[in-house]
Amino acid sequence: MKKTVIALAIVAVSASGCAYRYYLGVHGPSIYKYPEIHQGARQDSDCLGCHHPDGNPQGPPTTHPGFVGCYKCHSDPV
Ligand code: HEC
Ligand code: HEC
Repeated sequence: MKKTVIALAIVAVSASGCAYRYYLGVHGPSIYKYPEIHQGARQDSDCLGCHHPDGNPQGPPTTHPGFVGCYKCHSDPV
């Protein structure tokens, strides 16, 4: 019974649209691929300054500007 509930919850989350899949522990490409560009950038506000899709971005625009904790998902060692 409990297992069924968990399975349904997983299906519901996976089906609920693209943005949420990022929260299932998927890491994005690392900023350390371009260490010079990203030197000193750690805060979400830093990242969005160069990656917000509405802000004339310098880097590739992010599909998920509303996320918090950019660095947490984009800091894998390369
Ligand atoms: C929960 C994890 C997670 C968080 C938090 C997160 N991202 Fe991502 N990001 C990803 C994943 C996974 C991808 C790769 C899939 C994609 O490109 O949509 C990605 C891709 C990107 C890309 C590359 C897009 C491209 O076209 O190459 C940029 C830029 C980016 N994120 C910026 C940000 C910024 C800025 C923030 C904070 C506002 C942020 N991310 C927060 C997981 C995350
Ligand atoms: C000074 C502007 C600037 C800041 C600040 C900045 N970036 Fe970038 N970022 C860039 C540029 C420019 C590129 C493209 C590099 C290239 O393709 O040569 C890039 C590329 C990326 C990529 C794509 C990597 C790939 O493999 O395609 C991700 C993801 C990313 N940045 C995330 C972040 C995150 C997360 C932060 C905040 C911790 C951040 N950036 C802060 C300018 C910036």
